[in-house]
Amino acid sequence: MPTPRIGILTGGGDAPGLNGILEASCRTLLKAGYELLGIEDGFEGIFENKVRLLGLEDIEGIHAEAGTLLGTSNKCGTKGREEEFLKKYEALGLEGLIVAGGDGTFAGLKAFESKIKIIGVPKTIDNDLSGTDVTFGYDTACSVVADAVDALRVSADAHRRIMIVETMGRTAGWIALGGGLAGYADAILIPERPFSRPNLIQFIKKRQLTQRGLLIVVSEGAMAVGEDRTVAFMVEKSPQAERYGGIANHLARFIEKETGWESRHVVLGYLQRSTHPTTTDRFLTLGMGVEVGRMVIEGAWGQAVVYRSGKVVRAPVIDLMGPVRLVEHDHHWVHLAQFLGSFI
Ligand code: F6P
Repeated sequence: MPTPRIGILTGGGDAPGLNGILEASCRTLLKAGYELLGIEDGFEGIFENKVRLLGLEDIEGIHAEAGTLLGTSNKCGTKGREEEFLKKYEALGLEGLIVAGGDGTFAGLKAFESKIKIIGVPKTIDNDLSGTDVTFGYDTACSVVADAVDALRVSADAHRRIMIVETMGRTAGWIALGGGLAGYADAILIPERPFSRPNLIQFIKKRQLTQRGLLIVVSEGAMAVGEDRTVAFMVEKSPQAERYGGIANHLARFIEKETGWESRHVVLGYLQRSTHPTTTDRFLTLGMGVEVGRMVIEGAWGQAVVYRSGKVVRAPVIDLMGPVRLVEHDHHWVHLAQFLGSFI
């Protein structure tokens, strides 16, 4: 019998923990006698036949690194090229495909549901994928935000300034909320709770009487009541073309004008994706990666590995294709922030 060959690819924006998924799943499958074909740069690797066999020597030890050994891309979709994609995929002679990706990646595979056997692994630092309680990379992103808040408080206090930290997250406020809470930020602004400009100014003026410095965490997709998100630029052909960003700068100028309190901003940007995975993310990807290996061995195609109620479990891959998972308006973390006296 020929050795069964499995493909593996990572799609969408990189997230700390992708290499952990690669290492844990490949180790499990190589040990079980499978051949693993790494597909480079997401879907692009299939279109352009950028593939290579993976051995133990390729993946051993990579779990500690951010990024992805295979490379990724969020520019190359399958829309309008379905026939070509299927033909090129079939030429690879794979029994099935392990796909670690976000909403764009799984949306791109929807058309092949009955034709390609896949096992899905949800991935994004934004933590906004449906079907799973948490995604790997999120904890690392939050720790980058919390560390930045802690560090910037020193400079804010030294200069009697307001520091505004802008986080990633697109339309979801999970990173700003988790990181802001962990750093005890004075104010946390998230897209799910548009903020009132007058109330924010009132809050800041009150704090001005008792604090030397003040820390605000704002999600890139946040906006004031009745206003639109701040779009930084557009990426053509991307499943979600708008890239948000710039609100922290606007906010700093607005607050300084209204309160007279000197304000500065910091955009954390890609540091949230490029930092070594935390232990929490390593545990998560270790558990998920081994489970993916088991799923291949058992032939559990059409399933995804997800995290629900504190456990790594299996669910239909279609669960990952639902609408973006946002922070509920009265999520218990929102209450935590309110109990701390933060503006949210
Ligand atoms: O989906 C993760 C994410 O990091 C978003 O939070 C952010 O807006 C976006 O990706 C940036 O993507 P790109 O790599 O295309 O600039």
